Amino acid sequence: MKILKDYSLFKLNTFGILANAKFFVGVESEKDLAELFNLSEFKQNKKMFLGGGSNVLFTKDFDGIVVLNKLKGVEILENNADTVIIRAMGGEIWHDLVMFAVNNGYWGIENLSSIPGTVGAAPMQNIGAYGAELKDCLESVEAYEIGAGKKKIFNKKECEFGYRDSVFKNELKGKYFISAITLKLDKKEKKNITYKVLADFFERNNIKVKNPKDVSDAVIFIRKSKLPDPKILGNAGSFFKNVFVDKGQLEKLRNKYPDIPHFEENEAIKIPAGWLIEQCGWKGKRIGNVGVHEKQALVLVNYGGATGLEIMELANKIIISVKEKFGLELSPEVNIV
Ligand code: EPU
Repeated sequence: MKILKDYSLFKLNTFGILANAKFFVGVESEKDLAELFNLSEFKQNKKMFLGGGSNVLFTKDFDGIVVLNKLKGVEILENNADTVIIRAMGGEIWHDLVMFAVNNGYWGIENLSSIPGTVGAAPMQNIGAYGAELKDCLESVEAYEIGAGKKKIFNKKECEFGYRDSVFKNELKGKYFISAITLKLDKKEKKNITYKVLADFFERNNIKVKNPKDVSDAVIFIRKSKLPDPKILGNAGSFFKNVFVDKGQLEKLRNKYPDIPHFEENEAIKIPAGWLIEQCGWKGKRIGNVGVHEKQALVLVNYGGATGLEIMELANKIIISVKEKFGLELSPEVNIV
């Protein structure tokens, strides 16, 4: 294991922002991890754990040590009549794990196809898309306590999952290194295709869903048509979270904006932040090197050469205008460093 100094993070963040880390190290085995915890460069510096870098915005150089999760491996722990239990290491590419499941005909994560990033980062924010969330099929998370180096297995409840949220983003922020996750997937048909965009797609194309691959193919197609490819245009997916309101707030908003889209989700009402941003006239707008994506207003993009601060300036302008027009507070989904 080699500690590198003054390391460029340019290729390690999908926004394509130029930023350096004072120290950088890649962890390839659980043994490496134990060694890392004893190094003075690790003990004496601020720490940051990085997966695919697809949900982070660097606004300055990182004055500490960046640890890249490179733990690899996928194994089937249990193969039962109706279900399988799969363990995947944190450094695996999330989409590769989805493809493994889909190609074997296992149901559960097909709606989460093409989400950029790694397996280890997935529980951090309980990744979600097209009506599914990681928590729907997650069994447990294995993580090492930083410093002590002790491994703890978190069951689903202990992960305290919420909308784009988990205990790892809150009370335990920076305290654990996620080494692996375990999922329970279904061998018998268990489709989840009621999310409007997805349901419309199947109806329009006259597709009868027979296996998880049908769903995965559709999700990949829809995502390609709406979300920019970070290899071509720097971005970190949705920059903001959707907004949740109660019935009273919705009624007030509907008096003024009768067409406001809203979706009931577990007692709360979701207002798509993309719609709010679009209504404020931001969709497709470009300011210098940064802009709001033309097909999905939740996505901020780097047209090349942008700094993290330029992205933040744009984000702040958007937050202010949504607040002024709707009285609603947008909050970033992306981790700002
Ligand atoms: N909408 C607009 N204008 C826009 C974008 C969206 O009016 O520019 C409205 C439309 O009413 C549309 C609704 O928002 O029907 C929902 O849009 P979409 O299905 O694209 O989903 P979203 O709520 O904007 C969320 C996730 C995405 C995920 C999609 C699909 C968050 C913050 N974002 O976006 O996740 O792919 O659903 O399920 O929850 C990500 O986290 O990086 C991400 C891309």
